[in-house]
Amino acid sequence: MIPDQLETANLTMRPFLEDDATAVLAYWKSDPGWERFNASVPSDFTMNDANVFVSEMCARNRKDRPSWAVVHRGLVVGVVSLSFEQDYRITVIGYGVHGDLRGRGLAVEAAQTVIDQAFDRYAQLQKIRAHTDPENTASIRVLEKLGFLREGTLRKNQFVKGRLCDEAVFGLLRGEWS
Ligand SMILES: CC(C)(COP(=O)(O)OP(=O)(O)OC[C@H]1O[C@@H](n2cnc3c(N)ncnc32)[C@H](O)[C@@H]1OP(=O)(O)O)[C@@H](O)C(=O)NCCC(=O)NCCS
Repeated sequence: MIPDQLETANLTMRPFLEDDATAVLAYWKSDPGWERFNASVPSDFTMNDANVFVSEMCARNRKDRPSWAVVHRGLVVGVVSLSFEQDYRITVIGYGVHGDLRGRGLAVEAAQTVIDQAFDRYAQLQKIRAHTDPENTASIRVLEKLGFLREGTLRKNQFVKGRLCDEAVFGLLRGEWS
């Protein structure tokens, strides 16, 4: 298993706590991209939705679907999550960081740490996949910086917030990980 606690130069990552809902609501509100691009963030979200999200993170099986609250200077400012598939041969990564901290490299720093841990801890892991809206240019830049390659675009592949959206699929193979 990947450790619950991870440290980077600027961040601490740890499991979500029920008390984190206020911080989650704050980072959801910080950038319209959260609501627009993340299926897990409902339209017109409220504190109740943040509570539901945090409860769901706390209830997840940490071996198959670990997630980490990203903490910067004592505040929860984002999330990184993994969902393993195919007997731990593939995992899907998700991430996000508070809008006020945009462009400081924190999303890359948090995701890179989790990626390194995943490949280190699971010898059978061959691929990390990421899915994003093709219009989410910041997220695509994060994936490029992490070394992911764009594998294609699935057209009208997910119904998000009343819109049938295209989905860009990115992959990082073990042999490409450095
Ligand atoms: C996408 C997101 C994770 C980026 O976080 P971040 O901490 O700003 O990311 P980083 O600083 O590590 O890297 C961002 C890179 O994208 C670039 N970038 C930021 N906003 C951009 C934009 N609107 N268009 C193009 N590039 C952009 C930055 O310049 C930087 O690249 P650079 O270092 O080459 O200059 C953040 O904006 C976010 O959480 N958005 C809402 C949630 C979300 O969409 N998550 C992804 C779901 S797939």
